[in-house]
Amino acid sequence: MEKQIKSIGVLTSGGDAPGMNAAVRAVVRTGLHKGYRMIGIQRGYNGLLNGECFEMTLRSVSNIIQAGGTILYTARCLEFKTKEGQDKGAAKCRELGIDALVVIGGDGSYRGARELAHRGIPMIGLPGTIDNDIACTDYTIGYDTAMNTALEMIDKLRDTTQSHDRCSVVEVMGRNAGYIALNVAIASGAMAVLLPEKEFDMQHDILDKITETQRTGKRHFIVIVAEGIGHSQEIANEIQARTGIDTRATILGHVQRGGSPTLRDRVNASAMGYHAVCLLEQGKYNRILRWSFLPTMKVCACSVCTSAPTTPSRRPCGSWMRLQRSRDIARIFQTHAA
Ligand code: ADP
Ligand code: F6P
Repeated sequence: MEKQIKSIGVLTSGGDAPGMNAAVRAVVRTGLHKGYRMIGIQRGYNGLLNGECFEMTLRSVSNIIQAGGTILYTARCLEFKTKEGQDKGAAKCRELGIDALVVIGGDGSYRGARELAHRGIPMIGLPGTIDNDIACTDYTIGYDTAMNTALEMIDKLRDTTQSHDRCSVVEVMGRNAGYIALNVAIASGAMAVLLPEKEFDMQHDILDKITETQRTGKRHFIVIVAEGIGHSQEIANEIQARTGIDTRATILGHVQRGGSPTLRDRVNASAMGYHAVCLLEQGKYNRILRWSFLPTMKVCACSVCTSAPTTPSRRPCGSWMRLQRSRDIARIFQTHAA
């Protein structure tokens, strides 16, 4: 018979991401509400191996939902990639009385959690990375805030780029994935975007476009470059050399990982944290939570949409069910936030 879960450990691992705190808060408050002992593990797998743990109470997660970074700290741990490190990690969980683990991080962190699961420590993985590069999910915690931060910076760059009739080449994060780059390019009205997922031709995709749009009177240009492409300074130098347009390169860098999480990151992280504990309670572990977006654009001709909804049950597209679910979540948090 499987051992009953009485205490749950939570850790953040890999690169930090805005919204991780909201997820930790939800895990801890839901866990306490359901009667579990909650243990915070600091600095990811490093902290687990070193026994950097503390008992978490309702107050441990007060006043953090709006904070960027992670109150549990995060780290990368090479030792955990070895068999010895993984054996030690599982033994540490037992020694510290951690019956199950919620791991908030990217796919590397999941691999670590899978090794613990193979050694008998039940786990749930929550997707936490600004890169949105986890295969099974449409959304990862921190992705929305990072895109909004990058967008804000690009809007500021546009002001000075326009004033000087310049071209700005802006590099955004995302490791080998182009999600951040593509979205901020659309949202900022950039002239071109270079993505690791798509081959590009400097002449056709950038230089010819500049010349064509110059003919229509355009005098300033924004080019977004994904981190996976890199070489932004060289790209800027080439644009300047071949078009004569004064060009600057800006690498936005780690600023994209910081800041107060957006509403979407807070709400989604809260929902995922809540759900992680529910799954452990139901005995459904060794899973990764995925967020699936509904089809984004629908042509809707139903009468419900054209007339004002009178009762909640007549609302279209299951929105009432979703609202109901988030109310349940809010109720648990409110009980404990008093
Ligand atoms: P992310 O979780 O954001 O993808 P990393 O790839 O850096 O970030 O992984 C975070 C941590 O997860 C690593 O420092 C390591 O401790 C652990 N990890 C990564 N890959 C593995 C693996 N193959 N086996 C065990 N642990 C791993
Ligand atoms: O995974 C998040 C991320 O910010 C990537 O976009 C970037 O490639 C990497 O982490 C940077 O890592 P570090 O914080 O180790 O410089």
